[in-house]
Amino acid sequence: MTTTNVTSTYFSGLKCRECNKLYPADVRYVCEECFGPLEVAYDYDAIAKDLTRDVIESRGANMWRYKELLPVAGDVTVGPDVGFTPLVKADRLAEALGVREVWVKNDTVNYPTLSFKDRVVSVALTRAKEFGYETVGCASTGNLANSVAANAAAAGLRAFVIIPSDLEVGKILGSLIYGAHVVGVNGTYDNVNRLCSEIAGRYNWAFVNVNMRPYYAEGSKTMGYEIAEQLGWELPDAVVSPMAGGSLICKLDKAFKELTKLGFVKEHNTKIYGAQAEGCSPIVNMVKDEADWIKPVRQPNTIAKSLAIGDPADGVYAAGTMRNSGGWGENPNDEEVVAGIRLLAETTGIFAETAGGVTVGAAKRLIENGKIDRNARLVLCITGNGLKTKEAVAGSFKAIDTIKPSLTDFDSLLQTIQPEELPCQ
Ligand SMILES: Cc1ncc(COP(=O)(O)O)c(C=O)c1O
Ligand SMILES: [Zn+2]
Repeated sequence: MTTTNVTSTYFSGLKCRECNKLYPADVRYVCEECFGPLEVAYDYDAIAKDLTRDVIESRGANMWRYKELLPVAGDVTVGPDVGFTPLVKADRLAEALGVREVWVKNDTVNYPTLSFKDRVVSVALTRAKEFGYETVGCASTGNLANSVAANAAAAGLRAFVIIPSDLEVGKILGSLIYGAHVVGVNGTYDNVNRLCSEIAGRYNWAFVNVNMRPYYAEGSKTMGYEIAEQLGWELPDAVVSPMAGGSLICKLDKAFKELTKLGFVKEHNTKIYGAQAEGCSPIVNMVKDEADWIKPVRQPNTIAKSLAIGDPADGVYAAGTMRNSGGWGENPNDEEVVAGIRLLAETTGIFAETAGGVTVGAAKRLIENGKIDRNARLVLCITGNGLKTKEAVAGSFKAIDTIKPSLTDFDSLLQTIQPEELPCQ
């Protein structure tokens, strides 16, 4: 195994986000000088020489059409078909929310595990293979575990996924099915994350969101690239992103800035808004309180388990992204999360998991309190699939109507249904 510098023409190293110290592009994630997080450093002049909008458009409908902007040196060996999910114009949702234009970036149908995490995992595992790792892992609130398990299975890697033990059945089963070693920890995500740093150090495995984090995180940028390309190479006015560790929201912003720098889109100030559930909203609280630091949530308490990270690694940067762009944050309660899932489903035909309900619930609040302009071209990032978190909404419906197999019974039932419940009339 080589864990040393494996680079391409387009990226040559890692850079500290705080003090800018440069490091080789090997397996490391914190700055030795200041303990700041490390990020991939690109050569944008070299990228601009080879990558154009025409080149991108000539490539396959997956996230690797932007390969020069991703930190892998050789061929894509894990997740070659991930991404390029639909951007859906949601006119009925726009009307319900009272906004001019709403688009849904639909990562509920991302391949192969129905969440945006397939984006980060295909980058992290391709990179892990470049370094020669044979065992990979993650600390996860569920979706990342599913994606590591599936993509590792397809690539012939051994996977350990470590999760809080109280996750939804769909998330646990969605990892077990691929033959991964699933370890439930009796504790919070923050307990899981700390344990994973220790395991990664002791066993020298590639933990996608620990020692592979600088590479892993770059995968989220592809959601931003796709949004811009699918809008006809234009940036939206406003984007609402769910937040857990706070990485995705930062990378959406980074993607828009990179496309602007490369001249692929006209300069435009996209306001970035973050969404968390009331029962675990350290980043939104930081924005609303105008604080300088994250106050960790010790005991998250929400149905939105995928977003329940009490001490988010990129929390301060996520808050900075919202502030610098002129955006804001909101934290709907669990009732609003369920209502958000149902509103999205009833107006677009898209069944999102709890994180999607958080995003729609937050957008509704942000529109009502005037933080999002009703004239905006708004994009909602819907990042995970509702079939994985069925228990969150199951209790919100009354029992279904049940009848004998008889037309008379159906006629009687129809008499009891209010006319406004019949969309065809
Ligand atoms: C469905 C879903 N959406 C959004 C997020 C937030 O991602 P990040 O940790 O990059 O903020 C997660 C994280 O687990 C997730 O599972
Ligand atoms: Zn530093």
